[in-house]
Amino acid sequence: MTEKRIACIGAGYVGGPTMAVIAMKCPQYKVTVADISEARIAAWQTDDLPIYEPGLLEVVQAGRGRNLFFSTDIPGAIREADIVFVSVNTPTKTFGDGAGKAADLQYWERVAREILRVSTSPKIVVEKSTLPVKTAHIMETILNANNNGVKFEVISNPEFLAEGTAIQDLLDPDRVLIGSRETPSGLKARQEIVDIYANWVPRERILTSNVWSAELSKLAANAFLAQRISSINSISALCERTEANVKEVARAIGMDARIGPRFLNASVGFGGSCFKKDILNLVYICESYGLQEVARYWQAVLDINEYQEKRFVRAMIRGMFNTIVGKRIALFGFAFKADTSDTRESPAIYVARDLLEEQAHVVVTDPKALENARKDLAGYAENLEFVEDPYEAARGAHAVAIMTEWDVYRSLDWERIYRSMEKPAFLFDGRDIVDYKHVYDLGFNVYPLGSPAMKHF
Ligand code: NAD
Ligand code: UGA
Repeated sequence: MTEKRIACIGAGYVGGPTMAVIAMKCPQYKVTVADISEARIAAWQTDDLPIYEPGLLEVVQAGRGRNLFFSTDIPGAIREADIVFVSVNTPTKTFGDGAGKAADLQYWERVAREILRVSTSPKIVVEKSTLPVKTAHIMETILNANNNGVKFEVISNPEFLAEGTAIQDLLDPDRVLIGSRETPSGLKARQEIVDIYANWVPRERILTSNVWSAELSKLAANAFLAQRISSINSISALCERTEANVKEVARAIGMDARIGPRFLNASVGFGGSCFKKDILNLVYICESYGLQEVARYWQAVLDINEYQEKRFVRAMIRGMFNTIVGKRIALFGFAFKADTSDTRESPAIYVARDLLEEQAHVVVTDPKALENARKDLAGYAENLEFVEDPYEAARGAHAVAIMTEWDVYRSLDWERIYRSMEKPAFLFDGRDIVDYKHVYDLGFNVYPLGSPAMKHF
């Protein structure tokens, strides 16, 4: 017997994997994932899924056609569900008031109105998307705008999964957060959502809170994570000037249990669809409450990230004798991190654009993200190539720049690469993954991130 009917509106990076895991772990529920994108829904129905995520296909296959369904019939999915998760995109607004900062809530509001329009029975509506604190109030206002007697409860259940490890994060989360109104009906709805996760998540890792805390915790968690990266990246700049080594510094500070070792890898900058947009949103919210100092504090996390990307390109130009016009430069990796095909806000986009503006000849290689890279760099027809094989990409290049920490780049035959390149050959490591001494001895001029350059001249 079907115990619960769950719908999820939005079949993206969050909706798809999250619902696939719920369906796998809870065969007693019926789970329908609906989206306006026909192409996306069609892809979820094949083994060529619309997103690449290790382990995802197996989880989808376990439930698909049994208790996991993908559909473009949004009204149908909503109507038959007791619980509607909403995981549509909430990008940064690009127009009008708050452009470039505020969250664009149009997709979200459209779903709220659709739920109101088609519902004939009571529902729990779950905010899965990342939203500004206080959005639940707007959702409630819309849902209760119609006096047809249908009751709605709004719950905040933000998602903390990271791309590339989505399945592992969903199967074994650090915590699941469920926020609700603290009224009798709000607490009852909260319990319904707790019951879903309790099928596989230990009860002590299921946190409950008021709805505003849950909404704000999501923005705060992303801001804190990004802040760690900006902190170590700021130190990487100082290391390069002082002969300190950022890896050694990260290790030394990370062994302090109060600081902890994770998320201290210096990089060419953080990317991904969320860190930047969520911090911009946090800054905007703070400004709108008149908290200018708080807004400036978080804005600085983004400023350092942009500085790090620009600094990386500047080091390339300076290192290569102040001109890169016509020089072949191979970018190793385009995904915003390893193990994903996602390139949203990837630092590689900005680096590639800056290099193209400098009239370099850019060759992009990546094991999974070339298709997205082509879209991101559409409009730069000249001086740009996409090559699958990293050895081919590097052939005849003046420089290789590592943009993504793919495992395959850790074990490349650098001697073979060196032999095929123009001399002097340069290696700029934006992810700090190469054995510098080894590649320097091979003949490369090496620019590690977070320690001084090693040059033969
Ligand atoms: P996504 O763009 O991959 O997916 C969103 C989907 O919603 C798209 O397929 C789109 O077609 C669909 N959609 C938009 N409007 C719709 C409508 N009116 N009706 C039906 N479908 C509609 O986005 P995502 O990466 O899955 O992110 C979704 C939310 O989750 C965002 O708020 C994001 O901040 C948050 N989040 C994302 C991640 C992540 O790793 N990507 C992690 C945690 C939280
Ligand atoms: C991040 C958070 O980790 C998730 O908890 C959150 O749910 C998600 O955002 C979201 O809200 O979308 P994600 O962006 O998928 O997940 O990936 P991360 O592993 O956080 O990496 C983000 C960026 O930071 C990547 O570009 C990565 O290379 C970079 N990074 C990460 C560093 O430069 N150094 C590090 O030490 C760690």
